[in-house]
Amino acid sequence: MPATILIGTQWGDEGKGKVTDWLANDMDLVVRYQGGHNAGHTVIADGHELKLHLLPSGILHPNIISIIASGLVIDPKALIKELDEVAEIGIGSPNLVLSANAHLIMPYHRLLDQASELKLGSSKIGTTGLGIGPAYTDKASRVGLRVQDLLDMKIFREKLEVALIFKNQVLTKIYDAEPLDVDEIVDEYKGYAERLNGIIGDASRIINDSLDEGKNVLLEGAQGMMLDLDYGTYPFVTSSSPIAGGACVGAGISPLRVKRIIGIAKAYTTRVGAGPFPTELEDATGELMRKVGVEFGTTTGRPRRCGWFDAVILKYTAKINGLTEIALTKLDVLSPFETLKICVGYEYEGKVYDYMPCHQTVFHGAKPVYEEVEGWNTDISDIATYDALPKAARAYVDRLQELIGAPITMISVGPSRDQTILR
Ligand code: GDP
Ligand code: IMO
Ligand code: MG
Repeated sequence: MPATILIGTQWGDEGKGKVTDWLANDMDLVVRYQGGHNAGHTVIADGHELKLHLLPSGILHPNIISIIASGLVIDPKALIKELDEVAEIGIGSPNLVLSANAHLIMPYHRLLDQASELKLGSSKIGTTGLGIGPAYTDKASRVGLRVQDLLDMKIFREKLEVALIFKNQVLTKIYDAEPLDVDEIVDEYKGYAERLNGIIGDASRIINDSLDEGKNVLLEGAQGMMLDLDYGTYPFVTSSSPIAGGACVGAGISPLRVKRIIGIAKAYTTRVGAGPFPTELEDATGELMRKVGVEFGTTTGRPRRCGWFDAVILKYTAKINGLTEIALTKLDVLSPFETLKICVGYEYEGKVYDYMPCHQTVFHGAKPVYEEVEGWNTDISDIATYDALPKAARAYVDRLQELIGAPITMISVGPSRDQTILR
């Protein structure tokens, strides 16, 4: 059985959690392949609203094996908190595996993330402040501590001592912060090690063996295409690779294993944090989108910036990721609008780009070229079939599909599992 990859096509929060949970019915394994607890994936099931940060969205299905793969950075305190939270509402995690190769977020990562944002002032990235960037930096610099270091606290201490020589210099001399103490961190992480010991395993072997056995594997991306370290709006990006290629690296599987790549796209666009956003609406229309779509960050609670659907971005995403299909979410949120706009190009200094310009100056200064289409102006959140959607809603979906060049096979009209239309 080939693997399926599910990715965010915009700046995150497209509804990946809902769609993963929906697809999980047919899956044997659900794997998170990158990012950390900067992600916030909402799943609504059996009357509970769960906000998952590190746990794969398959966790609600007791028969599924949930895997936190090697490509992630793990704050063990955050993971334990999340495990406790789901246990409180009766969701166990007997089938959870945490990759021994995933990297650990350490207390200095969090401090350095926040201190760097403060120092950057108005140039800040608007990170979640959870230590994601500094943890990935240490991984690439080959000075990171990994989950498997929790299995041998002697090695853990040795690595930490080396790391702290540098980190304490930076904390005290550059950021005027207090130095960190080796013993205190070892004590804290020893507790996490005792708790997590039983779930640490060889994630990539389990995933590959499962594929060999013909099992269905879903790879759940966090963040989204435009936050990708290489292909997003650098430097206003996250420090990992949410794109489909990143799934193979993060999970440790061959690209030849993948058959289906599903892009999750919101029917409009949102972004949290700083950085360019051509179709952003800083007016009453944007306010209404935020209110109706309840666009507030799942992880940080920050209001999300809102704007019209950007088909240039989706066309770019479809190419870079080889999307085989698209799930269009939150179509219901556009119901209050008389007319809708779709961005089909960018105008910059007299030239129109109908593709993603590679020069940042063009993207930062891009004026959207819009196509205006009719709205449907009626509630669609109870509609269960494509044909029952108002004509204008079907025309909107068809036009997006035509512009993107990949089939829209799933339409979401509300946060619950049953508010999903297949076509
Ligand atoms: P993710 O990070 O991509 O998993 O998305 P988030 O969970 O951060 O944000 C998506 C939000 O939209 C969540 O609150 C979902 O419950 C909600 N949601 C998902 N699909 C729909 C939909 O079709 N309509 C509406 N109104 N809300 C949705
Ligand atoms: P999900 O998986 C939306 C954004 C942050 C910031 C930038 C870098 O729920 O879609 P970081 O802390 O990662 O170094 O911050 O990335 N960001 C997200 N925005 N959804 C997310 O995850 C995000 N994860 C990070 O707001 O702009
Ligand atoms: Mg989210």
